[in-house]
Amino acid sequence: MDKIQFFITDDLSIGLYSEKDKDIFHSKTGALKEAFDKFIIPSGLVNYVDSQKSVKILDICTGIGYNLKSALTCLENRNAQIDCIEIEKDYIMLIPFIFDKINNFDLKVNILDKILKTGIDFNILYECVNSYIYKNDIYFFDPSMINFMHFIKNSAYDLCYQALNCSNLHNIYYNYISNNNINSQNINKYNDININFFFDDARKIVIGLNEYYDIIFLDAFSPQKNPVLWTINFLSLIKSKMNFDSILVSYSKSTPFRSALKELGFFIGKTYVDGVDMGTVASLNKRKIKNPLISFDLELIKTRSGIVYRDPDLSDIPSQIIKRREIEQKFSSRISHTAFLKKITE
Ligand SMILES: C[S@@+](CC[C@H](N)C(=O)[O-])C[C@H]1O[C@@H](n2cnc3c(N)ncnc32)[C@H](O)[C@@H]1O
Repeated sequence: MDKIQFFITDDLSIGLYSEKDKDIFHSKTGALKEAFDKFIIPSGLVNYVDSQKSVKILDICTGIGYNLKSALTCLENRNAQIDCIEIEKDYIMLIPFIFDKINNFDLKVNILDKILKTGIDFNILYECVNSYIYKNDIYFFDPSMINFMHFIKNSAYDLCYQALNCSNLHNIYYNYISNNNINSQNINKYNDININFFFDDARKIVIGLNEYYDIIFLDAFSPQKNPVLWTINFLSLIKSKMNFDSILVSYSKSTPFRSALKELGFFIGKTYVDGVDMGTVASLNKRKIKNPLISFDLELIKTRSGIVYRDPDLSDIPSQIIKRREIEQKFSSRISHTAFLKKITE
């Protein structure tokens, strides 16, 4: 419970910092802004929306769900599947309740419905969310959703019972909004969206997925801190879940990550935010890449800093993966990063 801290980001959406992982979940410039700038816009999701095509998304490292919720804001009344992988169940339970600046009650109720359908007991979720509220500032949470949670708990116990039995939470929601005289119709705009949650190490989950995804979000902690989801072996596994036109999107622009993508045969592009290189997109289809890596990036990949992280059995802990790369770097005949930078400025 004490392992995460909440903070207000520059766009006023709430971000998290993990004490345990010593890493931020979200950019200080805006948790919601980051989701759109680095994931939703570069993924080309809007093209699927415009063309009315159904879309399958894999959200690796869902956390408190900014990428998931931002994607859903584009997918009202659309046909889609979003599979979400997150190792910490608590974070998933917080998704509908965080103050994220997404003013879409319907969207959040649908996520809550899907969370309860994974078999999580409503009372456990209630205890979990309350324990975070108790230890943190109430302004970090979405007041409408907190009220709705109390409504389920206190005044609609029999309806809540239905929810626990996996009937549609939407009925409770409709009852709630009617009671609160909110002018709304009983139309579920997310009826055709299938959201699935998987709670485990993404390495174990992705192996078992029998799908090809159009869009994959990779939002793991930074490679230097925790490389387990940035190894060439894990990226190869991700590749096996992509078709020719699929796109992999990440906030990371780390050299070993881009180097692994290159070695795996991807075409790689940069994500520019306000003119600055702030992330990576990769696809097997060259035409999907708008801003390809420039020669500087490609040369950088050939240096020692481009030596990839490896995890041959997809089971090593971060320190083993980091050590393995350090040894490979030590014995490599490649030019060092520093020597490379010196050479190009001469
Ligand atoms: C940078 S945060 C993701 C932020 C998230 N996308 C959001 O919008 O809140 C990284 C997340 O990866 C999760 N994680 C770390 N290692 C993981 C693993 N091996 N498999 C799955 N999830 C993992 C952490 O619990 C954390 O929630």
